[in-house]
Amino acid sequence: MSWGCAKRRSLAGVLLGAWLCIVSSLVAAAEGSDSRTLLRELLALRESDPDAWTEQLQQASERASFCARCHGNDGVSVQPLVPNLAGQNAYYLLEQIERFADGRRKDFIMSPLAAQAKPAERALLAVHYAIMSPHAVVADPALAAAGRRRYEQSCITCHGIDAKGTEVYSRLAGQQAGYLKHRLLSLRAGGAGPGSVMSEIARTLGDEEIEALVAYLSSQR
Ligand code: HEC
Ligand code: HEC
Repeated sequence: MSWGCAKRRSLAGVLLGAWLCIVSSLVAAAEGSDSRTLLRELLALRESDPDAWTEQLQQASERASFCARCHGNDGVSVQPLVPNLAGQNAYYLLEQIERFADGRRKDFIMSPLAAQAKPAERALLAVHYAIMSPHAVVADPALAAAGRRRYEQSCITCHGIDAKGTEVYSRLAGQQAGYLKHRLLSLRAGGAGPGSVMSEIARTLGDEEIEALVAYLSSQR
């Protein structure tokens, strides 16, 4: 039990306090740590039980009908500042939903939506978008080539070869151009908070380099 629990000293509150502590630790355990396990179990169904997998996907697409208003039916967003989710890594997506829900990442739309979703729903939503095909747009070839060179210089170690991302670092290939630009500018301005490695990297980028990176990344699949 957490140290906070031992601090409840008021006479009348001792028993009630101890009980509340137990209940709230159980709730926290069920809500926080479990969604990754649920996601792993869900992904395993694809091989082990295709019928159950199809059924889960059906539930996921029903749960995502509201999300589609902004992120699109096919995970390709319909607004420049809304990220594409199609083909993004499932664990990365889940982590972002968790971050919105617990306040580590803040957005006035996403924070309340994420907080409302139960752990099992968070895992479902992550799978729903992760298995969709990424979307690429056409970009100026010379600009995109310059962006690729810049990407290979400074970005590959975290965001991966061809910008396909990992469980921890976002996929950038096929991301919405407007969102990429907006995020890079805000990271460059220190939007990720002090000590962010990504802000340090973004600070080394000039405006033209950002344009080139956006052209390259948004035109990859
Ligand atoms: C009204 C529009 C809107 C709706 C509806 C919406 N989103 Fe979002 N979503 C956004 C915006 C805007 C962002 C980017 C926020 C930011 O800049 O941090 C975002 C970001 C995200 C991200 C982070 C992606 C990344 O690459 O970092 C995930 C995951 C996500 N949304 C999932 C969902 C899910 C699941 C739902 C449905 C439960 C949903 N969204 C509904 C607008 C919306
Ligand atoms: C040392 C690892 C590392 C390297 C190298 C790196 N990044 Fe990142 N990147 C991160 C991390 C961590 C985040 C999450 C930042 C946050 O929100 O605090 C991130 C986030 C981003 C985002 C926002 C993604 C989203 O879905 O919201 C973009 C865009 C991005 N990086 C582009 C780049 C580009 C372009 C380069 C090369 C110039 C680069 N990164 C190099 C670690 C890295």
